[in-house]
Amino acid sequence: MWKATTSLSSHSISPGMVALACNPSGASSEALSVRPPIVNGLSWNYYSLNCPRVEKIVRNHLQKVFQQDSGQAPALLRIFFHDCFVQGCDGSILLDGSPNEKDQPANIGIRAEALQTIEDLRSLVHKQCGRIVSCSDLVVLAAREAVSQSGGPKFEVPLGRKDGVTFSISGTNNLPAPFFKTSEVLNAFAPRNFDATDVVALSGAHTFGRAHCSTFFSRINQTDPPIDASLAKNLSKTCPSQDSTNTAVLDVTTPNVFDNKYYVNLLNRKGLFTSDQDLFSDSRTKDIVNSFASDQKLFFDKFANAVVKLSHLDVLTGKQGEIRAKCSVPNTKKKSFVASVVEEFMDLSGQM
Ligand code: HEM
Repeated sequence: MWKATTSLSSHSISPGMVALACNPSGASSEALSVRPPIVNGLSWNYYSLNCPRVEKIVRNHLQKVFQQDSGQAPALLRIFFHDCFVQGCDGSILLDGSPNEKDQPANIGIRAEALQTIEDLRSLVHKQCGRIVSCSDLVVLAAREAVSQSGGPKFEVPLGRKDGVTFSISGTNNLPAPFFKTSEVLNAFAPRNFDATDVVALSGAHTFGRAHCSTFFSRINQTDPPIDASLAKNLSKTCPSQDSTNTAVLDVTTPNVFDNKYYVNLLNRKGLFTSDQDLFSDSRTKDIVNSFASDQKLFFDKFANAVVKLSHLDVLTGKQGEIRAKCSVPNTKKKSFVASVVEEFMDLSGQM
């Protein structure tokens, strides 16, 4: 299903970003207000002249959405990760096509209603400001709101991304799989300069949301890493078979709250995925899990830093890319469609 790749390909990040991961102070409240270095072309106040209300529009709309369906918050955070980790934060996961990126096996469970929420945000924002704000920036802003409105850290995100005009099916193989052990997870993130602290912090995103049976079925009878007997029993009830379309919560303690209980669960062998629980077995990550379990502010600090770092991956800026008029369709599609029809017609007429 998923494949680990360690290819450096085009997913390199700037040297400034490495510094982000190395905040040795652990002074969480301070670090949240400090603005980490950003890549060229992005800025902390990108829309301050042309669309100063964008963050407010996103915040207010998502408040209403989450009141109706709290599951949209984890769904939006996952969309952000799966957008940025495939071919950069370019909105490629939003694009329609057959086949397309969002329907690939590694994107199992991406929620259609959350993709629609991004499009709704685009429509609201474009109505107020014109076609100024990219879909890829809206994905980042929505993820940030999803975290803070669920109880997690409040932090700023740099903006100014442009939308891509292509998606990558093969790039979805870069996404880590739930049955990975820690070595494989670290290997999936290392080519993009994410260290063990980043990986443990980012895995803390599994403090809310859900997973389908097929993604954790093999874990139910697992001994390495170990699983709590009562959790295993409950999961086997939820999932009579691997093909069951049922879901389980990722955090059995506080399933809808963004907090550090995910790490406390790992201490109690209650991580849902192998990739989660093994973080508490591997000597490179165990101490980090312990530190986040006992210090929520430290987790929030490292999580916010790692998310900003993720939001830098292979961004298109300046004259690159475009601002899509509809998040699921590149603007050029219409033009190239017309061009290909004309070419087809010419081919046909050439043959005649
Ligand atoms: C460390 C490697 C990771 C693996 C192996 C992994 C794998 C998965 C899988 C298999 C699911 C269940 C999907 C489903 O069945 O519906 C899931 C859900 C989720 N993942 Fe991850 N993930 C990882 C890292 C991340 C990161 C870095 C983030 C965000 C920063 C993230 C955010 C989420 C969220 C919020 C959900 C719940 C989605 C929902 O409720 O719709 N994951 N993940």
